[in-house]
Parts: sequence; C-alpha cells; structure tokens
Amino acid sequence: MYKIAIVPGDGTGPEVVRQGLKALRAVADKVGFKYETAEFDFGGDRYLRTGEVLPDSAVEELRQFDAIYLGAIGHPDVKPGILEKGILLRLRFELDQYINLRPVKLYPNVETPLKDKGPEDIDFVVVRENTEGLYTGSGGFLKKGTADEIAVQESINTRKGVERCLRYAFEYARRRNKEKTVTLCGKTNVLTYAWDLWERTFHEVGEKDYADVKREYAHVDATCMWMVKNPEWFDVIVTDNMFGDIITDLGAMIQGGMGIAAGGNINPEGVSMFEPIGGSAPKYTGQNVINPMAAIGACQIMLDTLGEHEGARTLEDAIVATLGKLKGMGAGKMGYSTSEVGDMVAGHVASS
Ligand code: IPM
Ligand code: MN
Repeated sequence: MYKIAIVPGDGTGPEVVRQGLKALRAVADKVGFKYETAEFDFGGDRYLRTGEVLPDSAVEELRQFDAIYLGAIGHPDVKPGILEKGILLRLRFELDQYINLRPVKLYPNVETPLKDKGPEDIDFVVVRENTEGLYTGSGGFLKKGTADEIAVQESINTRKGVERCLRYAFEYARRRNKEKTVTLCGKTNVLTYAWDLWERTFHEVGEKDYADVKREYAHVDATCMWMVKNPEWFDVIVTDNMFGDIITDLGAMIQGGMGIAAGGNINPEGVSMFEPIGGSAPKYTGQNVINPMAAIGACQIMLDTLGEHEGARTLEDAIVATLGKLKGMGAGKMGYSTSEVGDMVAGHVASS
C-alpha cells in the first residue's frame, strides 16, 4: 500500500494533477497495487490567505509518505522567489532529494523544433544534482546599496554530494542498458575547483565500480550545442544543479515543449517528489485546455521510482498511444480538452 501525498499547487496544477491521478487509478487497477492519497493545499492561494508558505509541520508530515505528486508552484500575485524557494526548493533540500531526474524523450507524433531529428535521435536522461551547487543560498552582500556593493553567490560542491549523484547516474545508465554511457557535463576549463572535484570523482568512482559504463565529458556550452546538433550522442548526462536547470529547459524544448516534460526529485533512500517541469500557466487556469501529459509523465516516473516497473511501462504505452491522436502539444491545440486527454490515457491503460 503506497501512501502518496498530492500537492496540486497553483494555476493549472490542480487540473493536470487530476489527469495524472486518473491514470494512476487505471494503472493500479490494471497491474494490481494499492495506494492511498492525501492532499495538501500548499501554494500561492494558501500563502495569500494565511501568510504561511509551508507550515513547519509539513516537512515532517511529508516524510511519512512514499512519494509526493506535485502540480505546479507559482502565483501571479506572489512575488517571484517566495513560493519557489519556500516550497519547491525547501522540500528538495529538507527531504534531501539529491537527484533531479529529467528524461528527454521525443515520442512519435510529437513535433520537435530540431530539423531532421526524430524519436530515434532524442532519447536521453539528465541526472541533475539537486541539493548543492549555486542553489544552497551560500554567499551574501557587502556594502549593499552603495557604489562599492559586492554580491557573492557561492557554488557548494561536496565530495559526498558529488559522489552520490555520480553513482546514481552510473547505476541509472546500467539499468537503462542502452548505450551504457554517462556524459559528465561541466566546465573544467574555467570552474577549476568545482569541476576538478566532479571530474576526479567521476573517473575514480567510474573506474572502480562501473567499469562496464563508458565515460564521456562535455563542457556545458558544448553540451547545449550537441543537444541541438546531435542529440543522439547522449544516453545519460550527469551535471550540477545550475547547469542541470539550464540544459533541461533546452531538453524540454527538443522533446516537444513544457506540455510534455516531466521530472522527479529523487531521494533514493527517502521520499521523492514528482512534477511536470512546466509552470502554473496562470492564463490557462480552469479552461480545461492545458496539456496534462507532463503531469501524467511525472506519474510514470513516480511509478518507475517506486519500483512499479510494469505499471510504468503500461502507462508509457498509453501515453504514446494517446500522443499519437493529439493534433498538437500546446494549450488549446491538442484537439481535445485536458480532461479528455486524461480519459484517453486512462482508457488505454484499462484496455491494454
Ligand atoms: C526547475 C525550476 C526551479 C529550479 C525554480 C522554480 C526554483 O526552474 O525545477 O527547473 O531552478 O530548479
Ligand atoms: Mn528550471
């Protein structure tokens, strides 16, 4: 019996999460596992109503769950940064979700802006370190507001944090069993402390414990170039928090856009959280036009991470079958409503 915490969040979050839950219900009935859900109202509306971003009890409460399924965080009436830092980043850090797993996979019938590239070319996974780097909030101001102002933002890279991330990437490449190649995406030519640590650990750990997995290296700028020019070269990319943030938006675009890109914030030893990568899309809220596939994809990654591999495969097949019927991926361009797309996926699962 899985206990799943649901955080629908802001904007279109609730409507896409509803479709993901339809799919989850269908998969559970199909492959036979049990789960229960509990909903939490964290997000912009709650913050505006109560002045509280995340109650202190929330993190402890969420620790009792097997997974967290999140819609979207971000509200037009709340200053940018408050909800992102107070909910999303706080949960990633406090639950020690040290991996951000973001598959970049182009499904058939989904349009990519890359000319002459198809599903056989775009199928890789980005393993983004999710608790360190430039995201720790380390740094500060000196002489703020004066002509001599100094702002420092430090990138924190610990041996332990780097190593556990690299190990996850090697294990993932092995389990994925495709090219069995991990590409370290860094900037060893300029960021000579941080990336020295990453590169040394990469080869040390790789040589010792993952000799069957090939190791490649690419600078982050070159990675962006190859992702556009030859995305078929990648299998598993491992990188730090900031670079991972940036290249996965590029990844989302080449796999068909924000309507389809999903990811997991993973603590392999703890509670993980799954989310569509796109935002809360306030202007489409409540119109039943937003594409729920990213949220349904997040559900699929959740199943896979929970160990429900058959369920994850069943859901992926249903996603592919449904995508094949959509006219487009954008909001209002699918030829079907949000809830109809959810019904189609659930229907495919049931009849598979
Ligand atoms: C993401 C987002 C977040 C990040 C923001 C909202 C804090 O861009 O999940 O990629 O930078 O990690
Ligand atoms: Mn991002």
